[in-house]
Amino acid sequence: MAPIDPHSYTDSTHPFTTHISLSLYFDFPASEIYSSALLSLSSPHTGSLSLDTRSLSINSIVDPKTLTPIPFSLSSEIDPIKGALLTVTLSNQSEFLISFKTSPNSSALQWLSPPQTFNKKFPFVYTQCQAIHARSIFPCQDTPAARIKYSAKLNIPQSLSAVMSARHVERRVPVSGEAAMACDDSTWCAEDRVVEDFVMEQPIPPYLFAFAVGEISHREVGPRTRVYAESVPTVLDAAAREFAGAEDMIRQGEKLFGPYDWERFDLLVLPPSFPYGGMENPRMVFLTPTVIKGDATGAQVVAHELAHSWTGNLVTNKNNEHFWLNEGFTTYAERRIVEVVQGEDIAALNIGIGWKGLNDEMERFKDNMEFTKLKTNQEGVDPDDVYSQVPYEKGFQFLLRIERQIGRPAFDEFLKKYISTFKFQSIDTDTFLDFLKANVPGIEKEINLELWTEGTGIPPDAHEPVSSIYTKIVSLANEFKNGQMPKDEDVADWGGQEWELYLENLPKSIQAYQIAALDARFRLSESKDHEVKVAFLQLAISSGCQDYYAEVEKTLKEVGRMKYLRPLYTHLVQGPGKEEEKIFAKRVFAEAQACYHPIAQGVVEAILSKHV
Ligand code: BES
Ligand code: ZN
Repeated sequence: MAPIDPHSYTDSTHPFTTHISLSLYFDFPASEIYSSALLSLSSPHTGSLSLDTRSLSINSIVDPKTLTPIPFSLSSEIDPIKGALLTVTLSNQSEFLISFKTSPNSSALQWLSPPQTFNKKFPFVYTQCQAIHARSIFPCQDTPAARIKYSAKLNIPQSLSAVMSARHVERRVPVSGEAAMACDDSTWCAEDRVVEDFVMEQPIPPYLFAFAVGEISHREVGPRTRVYAESVPTVLDAAAREFAGAEDMIRQGEKLFGPYDWERFDLLVLPPSFPYGGMENPRMVFLTPTVIKGDATGAQVVAHELAHSWTGNLVTNKNNEHFWLNEGFTTYAERRIVEVVQGEDIAALNIGIGWKGLNDEMERFKDNMEFTKLKTNQEGVDPDDVYSQVPYEKGFQFLLRIERQIGRPAFDEFLKKYISTFKFQSIDTDTFLDFLKANVPGIEKEINLELWTEGTGIPPDAHEPVSSIYTKIVSLANEFKNGQMPKDEDVADWGGQEWELYLENLPKSIQAYQIAALDARFRLSESKDHEVKVAFLQLAISSGCQDYYAEVEKTLKEVGRMKYLRPLYTHLVQGPGKEEEKIFAKRVFAEAQACYHPIAQGVVEAILSKHV
């Protein structure tokens, strides 16, 4: 057994799966998917083949040509991170057909009942496979080192439609036998069902597999972009307005990083429980509805997910220990796009917010400095538990350091070459460093590459951002020490990002009465912008200002984005003498939990169990 990924049972001596054909029958009342998966290997294999699964029931495995059963065993021992090992015993075979069923608590899937959706009329289900959740939808070698092409037939109720991070082929009536597939529920009949066919012809790592099923409509926003959302005209219209600049961004991306290889760049706006700001599913990015607010941040998240089309989806980290190759490069690329389409000031603000975030993470990980490294050891570590700004912001700083050393024109050329050299490959930090040294001779003498990639903390040659807007806002925040609030003319043209930077840089010593005074003047607790509201509520909690707990509770029940859940729950329960807050946090979680995606539920549970 030679593992290649601490989060997967994949064995390097086994052939990789190159193609999967999936048939998925959605049973909404039971929150289950009756499925079959035909796996094709890169070469015929004899002996055992290891696959990852989590909470799947395996019904049978057969040879697709002869239908003869293929021996398999599903380990009864369940690793809390990796899940259950499925061993298939092959004899010179390169294809096998697995029939199986997902469970209602599959970690990748959120099943929403009609009241949990925008339109309140139809159920909805969607996936989130990154980091290691694809295995809870279908058995696979769930490591980004393995790339698969796939086809998928989604059998769904006729009143709904399906979207995927793949090319849509057709919506059609089920052929005989397809409707009742492996499902004993006689209440379904073929007439009530449709099948939506998709194909993904480009090889993707399993974490980029994605679908959503619900009452979904779309608006055209550009020549290769549509925005999809639940069929609520107000949501669709606002989304179409917010993302009107998508085509411009794609063109800028192409200028900077090379051709856009994924044909379409569609956007799907999910219900508020979506656990991330955005997820770079190829051809169709998934987004939280909280980014639709008619200012610069929506575009920033789109720029980030678009940037992954090159850094992440084309050039992919080999496993999560090298996650910075995905997110650090993408943060750098995102800011280059933002700089062109929104201007240098906005890019500078984002860099400033990121710098503060990076410094805060040093505090969070002060007892576990491993996770302040770019290259981390994740043996026995759940990637969702150590998700942080470090790979994003330290990765960004590292690339900026190289850019500063060699100059922007040379760095731009280097980036393009890096992407075209490694596209459709999964690489590690050493591969990047070797490529860097080969293409920028002598760089290792100028920059301590080992310190940057293997060292803890922030290297001394990282730079606090320099820009007039950043410096002005940070110094205004520092003046609060003397109780001095910003003047109306200072804040007159501030948007959400300016306020976020200001709030995050306020002194730790701020008192509850000062928080209340700030809010009385600027109404931050009522901000429609969740970044601002959550930054304010964090301050309110840490200064012990209980007046805002009703707003905290409302926020925790309204949105399931982990960027907000993590700090709010953490600030409530962390530290001594927080008995009342702990009881409050536990009650709110118990009441809100059903609305969170399973990944978010797990993350909040981990925070509460660490401190309560
Ligand atoms: N790929 C990430 C989201 C992710 C990371 C999901 C790790 C699961 C595991 C995505 O590209 C991302 O970084 N989203 C950010 C957007 C922001 C940086 C603009 C988010 O969700 O906040
Ligand atoms: Zn990202």
